[in-house]
Amino acid sequence: MTDKYAQLVNHGIGKKVATQIGLPRPPRLRRFEPGQELLEGAAAVGGIGDTAVQQAVTGIITASGGTVVQATADSTYADKPAAVVFDATGARTLEELETLRAVMGPAVKALGRCGRVVIIGTPPDELDDAQAAATQQALEGITRSIGKELRAGGTANLLWLQGDAQGDSSALAAPLRFFLSSRSAYVSGQPVRVGAGDIPEVDDWHHPLQGEIAVITGAARGIGAEIAKVFARAGAQVIAVDIPAAGDALTKVANGIGAIALQLDITSADAGERIAEAVARKGDHLDVIVHNAGITRDKLFVNTDADRWGSVIDVNLASQFRINKVLLDPGTKGGLKDGGRIVAVASTSGIGGNRGQANYAASKAGVIGMVRRLSKDLADRHITVNAVAPGFIETEMTSKIPLGTREVGRRINSLMQGGQPVDVGETIAFFAEPGSAGVTGQVLRVCGQSQLGA
Ligand code: NAI
Repeated sequence: MTDKYAQLVNHGIGKKVATQIGLPRPPRLRRFEPGQELLEGAAAVGGIGDTAVQQAVTGIITASGGTVVQATADSTYADKPAAVVFDATGARTLEELETLRAVMGPAVKALGRCGRVVIIGTPPDELDDAQAAATQQALEGITRSIGKELRAGGTANLLWLQGDAQGDSSALAAPLRFFLSSRSAYVSGQPVRVGAGDIPEVDDWHHPLQGEIAVITGAARGIGAEIAKVFARAGAQVIAVDIPAAGDALTKVANGIGAIALQLDITSADAGERIAEAVARKGDHLDVIVHNAGITRDKLFVNTDADRWGSVIDVNLASQFRINKVLLDPGTKGGLKDGGRIVAVASTSGIGGNRGQANYAASKAGVIGMVRRLSKDLADRHITVNAVAPGFIETEMTSKIPLGTREVGRRINSLMQGGQPVDVGETIAFFAEPGSAGVTGQVLRVCGQSQLGA
């Protein structure tokens, strides 16, 4: 779906008029293209105290072909930095926040177009001193505020690096690269927790899913079709699932990326077995399952009948439990391997609720509850379980929203525009990467830092 307003105010006479009368102009976001550099300029890197994490950051950026300049309170930036990374993992006192302000201020001010700000902290719940915990929690407020202040497509995000991961740069590499890259174009103001994981050596960052089998549900169109394309680009053998009624569209998507099309209603009782059978025809086990298929049946809560209630809960949540049960059974041929990935699609509706969506919000909040619990249950099998929570994404689902509400949904975020399906695909692929083994139980909003669900 096209954003006519953004087109109007960014071209020709519309641009002139919009600039003169001060209308907001949604920036064009830098999105990933094969062969693209991680960053379009240097990263300004600074920090507080011990330099181990800063050194890890520098190593990760230079290994990607990027350059690093030291960020200090006295630094001046002749060339606009493409990113600012600040290691605050060692901050324990409120005074140290002043150091952060003094060092980051000039760097953030100089930041280039679609710039990236990444702050790295220690999870406050790991600290037993109240001031230390408060200092760390302050980082979330700082990150979210910077995200709201950045212009020109910039984003700001926070990595909570657990103590067990602070001496291990391999745990930081995939999350840092994701948040610095254009793959996170529509993710801003978000905290993500990173722990030590069973992280393999990553040889090929452009094809991190090479040789893996990934099942994606609801892949005939919209977000699911884009997830499938991003996974195929990353090297995965995709099994694309959708209902028989969407068979033609599914075949088209699958043929375009060398995927296998599996016509299947995920609410059918044997859905898990059918998926496992399809996997077993291609390999020994499944590496990634992406639960993306979803429906809406909107009505005010008091007008919602049992059918509208039940169908949404069944497609969006109950089916995931049934499918997971089969795929997680170690006896299932074609089941999920130990060290595999489960990624589910929630929604900002599941965080903040939405008028007319009690059934949908229940299902999506339920997805979040499932992911948080299951991540703990499956930790000993090194299976990570995460969710994305998209905000307003330009798809057929959102094109059905009445115009007025649609325009509000599009604009009330820090990037002043709806996201693209590919933005959700990139974020799910990040969770699926082998390098993200230390990231589990997380719910990452892909919403341009929307006020919806805030
Ligand atoms: P869509 O309606 O364009 O696509 C959903 C796909 O799921 C369709 O191809 C449909 O045939 C398939 N599907 C539905 N029921 C199925 C079933 N029983 N078995 C197999 N496949 C089934 O939706 P869109 O926008 O691409 O959404 C994808 C996911 O993202 C959904 O879970 C949705 O709730 C979620 N989401 C979307 C947002 C948006 O702004 N578009 C915002 C937040 C979450």
